[in-house]
Amino acid sequence: MTSVLTPELTAHWDEPDSFTLAGYRRAGGYQALSKALAMPPDEVIAAVKASGLRGRGGAGFPTGVKWGFIPQGDGKPHYLVVNADESEPGTCKDIPTMLATPHALVEGSIIAAYAIRANLAFIYVRGEVLHVVRRLHQAVAEAYEAGYLGSDIGGSGFDLEIVVHAGAGAYECGEETALLDSLEGHRGQPRLKPPFPAIAGLYACPTVVNNVESIASVPYIIERGAGSFAALGTEKSKGFGIFSLSGHVTTPGQYEAPLGVTLRELLSLAGGVRAGHQLKFWTPGGSSTPIFTDEHLDVPLDFESVGAAGSMLGTRALQIFDETTCVVRATLRWMEFYEHESCGKCTPCREGTFWIVQVLDALERGEGSEGDLDKLLDICDNILGRAFCPFGDGAVSPVMSSIKYFRDEFIEHNKRGGCPFDPAASTLFGGSWRSSSR
Ligand SMILES: Cc1cc2nc3c(=O)[nH]c(=O)nc-3n(C[C@H](O)[C@H](O)[C@H](O)COP(=O)(O)O)c2cc1C
Ligand code: SF4
Repeated sequence: MTSVLTPELTAHWDEPDSFTLAGYRRAGGYQALSKALAMPPDEVIAAVKASGLRGRGGAGFPTGVKWGFIPQGDGKPHYLVVNADESEPGTCKDIPTMLATPHALVEGSIIAAYAIRANLAFIYVRGEVLHVVRRLHQAVAEAYEAGYLGSDIGGSGFDLEIVVHAGAGAYECGEETALLDSLEGHRGQPRLKPPFPAIAGLYACPTVVNNVESIASVPYIIERGAGSFAALGTEKSKGFGIFSLSGHVTTPGQYEAPLGVTLRELLSLAGGVRAGHQLKFWTPGGSSTPIFTDEHLDVPLDFESVGAAGSMLGTRALQIFDETTCVVRATLRWMEFYEHESCGKCTPCREGTFWIVQVLDALERGEGSEGDLDKLLDICDNILGRAFCPFGDGAVSPVMSSIKYFRDEFIEHNKRGGCPFDPAASTLFGGSWRSSSR
């Protein structure tokens, strides 16, 4: 069963100095950069296209195709912006990647910037994770000192500066255009698209925005060849990815495997659902992706199969919930996050998330009515497809999917006039339960 795992990005995470330049070089680091700088930039783009790498930030857009959209010979500066704002509930792969091997991101950024002819790159990192910000600063400083950044990198004639920018901490600043506004010093709210960032991005210039894991996968593709990456995964979802298991699982953590692996396989590697319990529901890709149940244990975790089964691969954040969890309560907690993080730019999301929390809160306390389920679905319907950015669609996913699979559980709260679950039973730390945090 262990053959399911393909540790590449995570291969050296347990080495005490994996985050240093020396540790990264010992593991073969920066060889891909030398190789890339000896290739014409368009060949680098062609290799990333041929690898089939699709964006690891959630949407799954082909990375090489995105790079190919950057107009060449336009006389404008080009920018690379790395999206390191990771903060969706359950999503926790980019932060460990940057902590353990920040140089993989730095090397990937240099190669990506070279390919799109950018001389300035930004890593927009969530400022709340100060230890990661520090580690990135250290890695960038080491790369400058070693001559991997600055002028005439490796005698190639290519110049690149990398700026590590710490964001103030807003989930919406992970949306690529809100991120660009935030980076420019404005309030982090999304822009109307088109124009897409490839045409008018940072400072209205052609810009590639890519996720940390997407960029960190690039050195592997250049070093080992596009074919080696494309040989893993499924027909349309190529390569390996980090699957983050959290919640009611015996051994939570990061499991790197080819796309198309199933939760059943991952759970068997992770020691299964916590002892004495059964799987009730789970998210395939973070809280913005509709929940799955134990019916979906064998769905291949690739973009197409997860979509066909009614959810989205998202960020491969597998949050596992066993039978002790109240789905109404879990959904309420997710919605409190969305209510708090809504940027307020558009009415359906700003008002709708607030309203959903009120209705869910009453339902969870057993003070709702059966009509509340229709009300919730109606509010969701008025957000889905009607909000200004994909945040809105993501926010209603947990509500709509939990009602789809667990309608009876919502109704049970009304019948009993309260929650039928013991909240302490679902905690991993045990202890006595005091009244709701709300
Ligand atoms: C509300 C919201 C939050 C997002 N947060 C992130 C994030 O933290 N990190 C990320 O890489 N992409 C995030 N995205 C997706 C980005 O908009 C964008 O698709 C991604 O950075 C592109 O990189 P990729 O093609 O390499 O995946 C978010 C999208 C939305 C709508
Ligand atoms: S859907 Fe609207 S309010 Fe919600 S985050 Fe996007 S722009 Fe802001």
